[in-house]
Amino acid sequence: MVKEEKQYAIIAGSGLQELAAESAEQKVTTEFGDPSSPIRVLLYGDRSVLFLGRHGDDFLIPPHKINYRANVKALQQLGVDCIIGMNTVGVITADAHPGEIALPDQLTDYTHDREHSIYDGTNAIVNVEFTEPFSGTLRKALLAAAAIAKVDVRDGGVYAVTQGPRLETAAEVDRLERDGADFVGMTLMPEASLAMELGMQYASLSLIVNYAAGRSENAIHAEVDASTMAAKSKAVAVLAALFDADA
Ligand code: HPA
Repeated sequence: MVKEEKQYAIIAGSGLQELAAESAEQKVTTEFGDPSSPIRVLLYGDRSVLFLGRHGDDFLIPPHKINYRANVKALQQLGVDCIIGMNTVGVITADAHPGEIALPDQLTDYTHDREHSIYDGTNAIVNVEFTEPFSGTLRKALLAAAAIAKVDVRDGGVYAVTQGPRLETAAEVDRLERDGADFVGMTLMPEASLAMELGMQYASLSLIVNYAAGRSENAIHAEVDASTMAAKSKAVAVLAALFDADA
């Protein structure tokens, strides 16, 4: 569907690394260190899309220990223009459910102590404008791809980014809701703002895998196990429609 020659990359999280299981690898390092894993090259027809698993190949890197700066910088060094962040989330709002996917249009950052900026006292600071944290162009392309793939996507919503790795308390989720949040996850920041600092478009394709803490009778992990596959296959169908050169 996307016709222009932009270089796309996917940064994926829980349960998604097998998307790139057999792909060719590119090792790259950055001034911030090594990315979480080698960069894989996915082929959609003639189009190559780069793929990075943010938790590492062995899935040992927790959300608060991810080297987000190295990850985003490595993709910039490889010429990436557009990053699709795939993030699993819990849902707070009542009108979306586990097994569905969402394209948030705002975020609130509750993380702390993460290396969150390329500006570290050695380079001239730019206070990037982050009013709209996601690329409107990329969101529109993903929505159009979802329509082609006949996949329902919850369009918009606020993604609250928590520190993890523990899940939230019920009272914390109530607070997030009072703050206007629709979804809660741990990995969107500082990935999204680093992409902005490094001049790349970014959007989050969020996989809803559970009701947020205190919002369901079910154990959270049981819900995650029951719904991840459905959300994942929807996200994969959207990506296939986005990158299918013939569509
Ligand atoms: N909270 C935080 N992060 C998450 C959740 C959640 O409920 N589900 C998936 N990632």
